[in-house]
Amino acid sequence: MRHKIVAGNWKMHKNAEETEDLLNELIAKLPSDVAVEIIVAPTFVNLASAVDHLEFTNIDVAAQNMHQAESGAFTGEISADMLKNIGVNTVILGHSERRAYFHESDALLASKVNTALKHDMRVIFCFGEELKDRQAHQHFNIVENQLNDGLFHLETKDWVNIVLAYEPVWAIGTGETATPEQAQEMHHFIRETINAKYGGDVAEDVSILYGGSVKPDNAKEIFSKPDVDGGLIGGAALNSDHFAAIVNAI
Ligand code: PGA
Repeated sequence: MRHKIVAGNWKMHKNAEETEDLLNELIAKLPSDVAVEIIVAPTFVNLASAVDHLEFTNIDVAAQNMHQAESGAFTGEISADMLKNIGVNTVILGHSERRAYFHESDALLASKVNTALKHDMRVIFCFGEELKDRQAHQHFNIVENQLNDGLFHLETKDWVNIVLAYEPVWAIGTGETATPEQAQEMHHFIRETINAKYGGDVAEDVSILYGGSVKPDNAKEIFSKPDVDGGLIGGAALNSDHFAAIVNAI
């Protein structure tokens, strides 16, 4: 069901001690009575402790990645079952850093999505165009292809466990943000594309987050747009004051 979400992607930041400190700060500073779902995604090694730490709070825990196989000889990888087993029910898939640095293709991501859904996990599926695509006016085509190749093999019923995160690559970690109008334009296009494939119920129910240099001073305007249901936050999620301010901007 479509609802407001603010998720913090901690990437490869914060050791165990720092994770605990940041979680304690977030517990103290984040509102407990807001109609927004709050998610944090620490690194793999700190997921179990984060789940324990946040047990009696309204903050949920997500993993930043996951392997598509059930188990096997995949040195260094983590399975859906391992995540579920420690109480992690949400996974971020398709982040542009995974696509760029770890060569994750849409076909690979489609199979990761399948595995996550098979394990009853919720997927935050990231996608978005690069700067050269936008400059060549190809951004709508690129996004449509990413949705098509990564998600459009799913059945209608699967979509209750899908959250979308539109993250233009040129805005991630760059300080460059899509304008609220650019975000709204793309989010509207995404909803229309889903509507054309799956119909109005799925399109209206799916939450579409914006990611890319969301900060306390631009969050309110971006979140005010009708097709923007929240944010996937990188850098600003590592500072408890900034993350709390972004959550309060919803
Ligand atoms: P950023 O990262 O907020 O630091 O731009 C967003 C993301 O990578 O999800």
